[in-house]
Amino acid sequence: MSTEKYGIAKVVGGFGRSLSPEEAIPYTLARTHIEHETIRRILSNRFSLHRRKKALEVGCGYGRNLPVLKEVFTQTFGLERDEELATIAANLHQDESATVVRMPKPLTRWPFDHGLFDFVMTFTVLQHLQAFEFEFFISEINRVTGPNATLLIVEETDETIVDPHTTGRSIETYKLLFSEFEFINSLPRKVEKTFPKEDSGAYMLFQKKKQ
Ligand SMILES: C[S@@+](CC[C@H](N)C(=O)[O-])C[C@H]1O[C@@H](n2cnc3c(N)ncnc32)[C@H](O)[C@@H]1O
Repeated sequence: MSTEKYGIAKVVGGFGRSLSPEEAIPYTLARTHIEHETIRRILSNRFSLHRRKKALEVGCGYGRNLPVLKEVFTQTFGLERDEELATIAANLHQDESATVVRMPKPLTRWPFDHGLFDFVMTFTVLQHLQAFEFEFFISEINRVTGPNATLLIVEETDETIVDPHTTGRSIETYKLLFSEFEFINSLPRKVEKTFPKEDSGAYMLFQKKKQ
């Protein structure tokens, strides 16, 4: 899993669903539209009073979510391991308020200072990590988030899903794993209507505990 190349065809192509380009385009647009609407709603409830400074999307893929974060935060960073995706994200979405950064090799500290971010998001990333990387990601998220920072993780929460590509972890498990954060609430992750299940994981919102 950890050395697997993602690439744009996989991220836009619906993973194991083998969609043709004709199917993948409307699927991607519909899913992204629904997901952006949800992220916007969550952010506007939480950040209506203050315009916060710095946001990070860990595993930003081709950067599709960065424009939504830019609406709220003065400085947005996308961290991406896959070279092809990072290049597309930088070409499409990088400007003075958004910076795409390549993730260093596994288990290497991310290039951000301690406590830098007011908001960190993972969107279907933690579910793809191996156990040894997973723990490292949690410790790096703990390290780069500031006091009272908000964490939004959007991941597979169906624990019966354990395959070479995806590991589902329940909301209760995520609450225990992110013990430096207070759990605020969760929402089911709705996707396009043609998706074979009612929902696909959950949006889980946390706030960093005062230390
Ligand atoms: C399904 S894509 C989601 C991309 C983006 N968050 C989005 O919503 O469009 C999964 C992302 O996780 C990243 N990823 C998967 N395994 C990883 C690993 N072992 N280390 C770092 N990043 C990984 C991929 O490079 C990819 O960007």
